[in-house]
Amino acid sequence: MLNFTFHNPTRIHFGEGQIKAITKEIPADAKVLVTYGGGSIKKNGVYDQVSEALKDHTWFEFSGIEPNPSYDTLIKALDIIKAHQVDYLLAVGGGSVVDGTKFIAAAAKYSNGDPWDIVAKQQKVTAALPIGAVLTLPATGSETNTGAVVTRDGNKLPFSSPLVRPLFAVLDPAVTLTLSDRQISNGVVDAFVHTMEQYLTYSVDGKVQDRISEGLLLTLIEEGPKALTEENKHNLDVRANIMWSATLALNGLIGAGVPQDWATHMIGHELTGGYGIDHARTLSIVLPGVMKVCRDAKAGKLLQYAERVWGVTEGDDNSRIDKAIALTEGFFKQMGVPTRLSDVDLAESDIDDIMVKLEQHGMVALGERREVTPEVSRKILQAAL
Ligand code: NZQ
Ligand code: ZN
Repeated sequence: MLNFTFHNPTRIHFGEGQIKAITKEIPADAKVLVTYGGGSIKKNGVYDQVSEALKDHTWFEFSGIEPNPSYDTLIKALDIIKAHQVDYLLAVGGGSVVDGTKFIAAAAKYSNGDPWDIVAKQQKVTAALPIGAVLTLPATGSETNTGAVVTRDGNKLPFSSPLVRPLFAVLDPAVTLTLSDRQISNGVVDAFVHTMEQYLTYSVDGKVQDRISEGLLLTLIEEGPKALTEENKHNLDVRANIMWSATLALNGLIGAGVPQDWATHMIGHELTGGYGIDHARTLSIVLPGVMKVCRDAKAGKLLQYAERVWGVTEGDDNSRIDKAIALTEGFFKQMGVPTRLSDVDLAESDIDDIMVKLEQHGMVALGERREVTPEVSRKILQAAL
């Protein structure tokens, strides 16, 4: 196992009716800015629950944070923050709202020029407003982690700082009942691929990390399709298991002490930035390509994955790996997400443009061994045609 330091201080309030916990979490004298997206929280009662919990607080609101939050939208929040001397942010929504709020938190305290440098030039965040989160879409893990992804002019780029990790997060599975099938699928697939990015590398004998990852993968394979059936559409236990899996998939736990890949995500970001494809749907296209092209480097873990996650024990190594890849694609199809570039109307002729963006963004040595060069990324994309 590799050395690591693990610290995840986000206090989690999990379960139905927990939104009221924000009353005590946010200091009584705070000036709060509630941030949200396009209005789903007004239709499903979440906005009302938040309003009720904050009835004795001073609060303002900033709406319109879109999926794949954009710099141009987020930067507008700074005017409200300045005008009302806001000193606490409450993100209410999915990963985009939480990520966008993280950027706002850092930008509000940035005094070194253009806040976009935090993302584009990876300028260190030295101060940020405190953040709380009410999560409405289980997927990204953003509610308890340090990362965020922001888009400007088609450039979708990540940044990270411990200073933007939410101080607390409310995870109420009941608020996820209003998600569309598409968003449920996206969430399950995103959490699945987060787990794979930290699991499907090479073994360092991290038995605990491996077993937890396998448990998360098995849970998502079991519960994900259920959430799409009529019979279980309103099943809160299914939603709770998906929600907790998604948080644990990217809260730092399974990635501590093991190598991490993230090539699928970095290539996927170019598909979202360039063509507007939903984040998770880029991952379901790219991951099978990564599994195919990097199968030798990942052979040990692929065989372990085949056996422990899919119960594949018959046949030689090659055929077991083939089977594991096919079963992964089958799971994605069952979740209703695309597995090929052609499924989203992209073709060989688009690969050159994607490659230009990847190189522009410095994504030239990806993967757990930094061996995914542009040449390898191209092969991955070709395998995804
Ligand atoms: O905007 P509203 O009206 O709220 O609607 C949203 C949005 O249209 C809707 N929605 C959310 N909760 C709902 C709901 N609709 C009905 N009922 C509910 N309870 O769902 C739509 C998508 O929301 P979004 O926040 O974009 O989805 P997601 O949570 O999948 O977040 C995706 C973003 O997170 C980034 C992605 O790149 C993408 O920008 N990621 C962040 C990560 C991180 N911070 O660690 C890691 C991930 O790999 C990912 O990159
Ligand atoms: Zn993701």
